[in-house]
Amino acid sequence: MTAVPLQPPRRLVPFTLDGTETRVPEGSTILDACRSAGTDIPTLCQGDTLTPKNACRVCVVEVEGARTLAPACSRRAEEGMTVLTDTERVRHSRKVVLELLASSTDLSTTPRAAEWIKEYEAKPGRFGADAARVDEQPKIDNDLYVRDYDKCILCYKCVDACGEQWQNTFAIAVAGRGFDARVSTEHDAPLTDSACVFCGNCIEVCPTGALSFSTEFGMRAAGTWDEPAQTRTTTVCAYCGVGCNVTLHVQENEIVKVTSPHDNPVTHGNLCIKGRFGFQHVQNRD
Ligand code: SF4
Ligand code: SF4
Ligand code: FES
Repeated sequence: MTAVPLQPPRRLVPFTLDGTETRVPEGSTILDACRSAGTDIPTLCQGDTLTPKNACRVCVVEVEGARTLAPACSRRAEEGMTVLTDTERVRHSRKVVLELLASSTDLSTTPRAAEWIKEYEAKPGRFGADAARVDEQPKIDNDLYVRDYDKCILCYKCVDACGEQWQNTFAIAVAGRGFDARVSTEHDAPLTDSACVFCGNCIEVCPTGALSFSTEFGMRAAGTWDEPAQTRTTTVCAYCGVGCNVTLHVQENEIVKVTSPHDNPVTHGNLCIKGRFGFQHVQNRD
């Protein structure tokens, strides 16, 4: 079920996208306009429930008259603007971003990363094996979720979801500077000793799989994670009276993870520990 929130009508802004006159509701980003027009733009740090952070720059486009390339995920479409999404300069910039990210982090569980690397002819291997920014074991310090920072692109989405944008728990932040920057709990404490309330809202927004359910992490390690074979059923959480929507991801008759629809006006993709992780009783056959 998708609820459509009512809003006052918005003025349409005319501008030119890849040579075609187009109009989008005022306040739309260039990315919104591209998606409406069916133009594919790669994104990593953009999140449909979060304020853009402009961290990855993989979505850049050329705006006529502008000195620098603009991030499509945050730059709003303006009247009279001319935007080009597939110039040589744009393609070169996306290629370099993908090379830098893929050479320094593990993008093996980032949806569409391999496709984009091929499309933009990125060659992450040219920086050599020493380019990996982090080389550490996944942090498995609780039963619910795993943090594998070899896969972290430092997009800040988990920090924003845990902090002022959704959860207001502030259990994690970016620690260190430059090459030492990393997402961390206070004093790098285990999650169980931190302020974390295990809502899993950071997992929901992580674009690379650096944060994942223990179930998913274990199944990937065992080679049994089969996303195409999974069904998704959205229902109502029965734990309390708020009535959040939960989407159950089921593989071979077992719930393997729980998400929430991002367009739901109550949850915006967020849940509490019970809705997110309290599914074991459903499949307890004893
Ligand atoms: S599980 Fe919730 S409280 Fe814990 S770090 Fe993630 S967003 Fe913050
Ligand atoms: S753990 Fe995920 S969401 Fe957090 S900064 Fe890294 S890639 Fe982004
Ligand atoms: S997706 Fe636009 S800057 Fe990252």
